[in-house]
Amino acid sequence: MEFPTYPPPALSDELWTVLAARRNTSLRRLQAPGPDEAGLQRICEAAGHAPDHAKQRSWRLVLIPAHKRHELGDAFVDALVQREPDADEDARSAAHGKAFHAPCLLVAILRADPALADVPVAERLVSLGCAVQNMLIAAQALGIASGLASGAALAASGMRRLLGLEAGEQAVCFIGFGSAECVKAARPRPQPAHYLTVL
Ligand SMILES: Cc1cc2nc3c(=O)[nH]c(=O)nc-3n(C[C@H](O)[C@H](O)[C@H](O)COP(=O)(O)O)c2cc1C
Repeated sequence: MEFPTYPPPALSDELWTVLAARRNTSLRRLQAPGPDEAGLQRICEAAGHAPDHAKQRSWRLVLIPAHKRHELGDAFVDALVQREPDADEDARSAAHGKAFHAPCLLVAILRADPALADVPVAERLVSLGCAVQNMLIAAQALGIASGLASGAALAASGMRRLLGLEAGEQAVCFIGFGSAECVKAARPRPQPAHYLTVL
């Protein structure tokens, strides 16, 4: 199937420019400065503009402030040791160090308790994904780089305790904000012809 191609967007198309400029920056490559208080407020407000079937508040965010990074590091180490009891000192130290990546760090949490409502988990997850993307785009618009990180540690019991997760809640990913050490080159993006068909 052939799709028409459009000329590159004009620079005045600010939304498109911001969308196209966003890159995932690995959290370890996000440096200070992160967003200031007003910027972080804006970014978090952007999350609230996500669609949410039945307005269930399908997700929530947890900010990890600087004074909690050590506890987060301990949770990373505990999670590692649970998975790999023989992990050596280097591996433990690397796990602890992850807590100090990105000057501004949040966790995106899915609220998926089946008792909550009749909105399927898949729909809740879509709402969370929209919220995360809104945050990434809002940050980009403010000139702030961002990155996502997931991994087995998010499901570990100590991490769940630290984040205050309730039964039915799931920590989906870390969201980091800061200044990119260097901006990655644009990657080739899938085009609608790759993912859009007409019935
Ligand atoms: C839920 C989620 C979790 C992710 N976790 C990781 C991760 O643990 N490590 C990582 O390097 N990138 C992670 N990413 C980012 C992707 O690797 C990144 O989006 C992908 O490489 C495409 O790059 P782009 O975002 O610049 O288009 C995650 C993305 C999503 C949506």
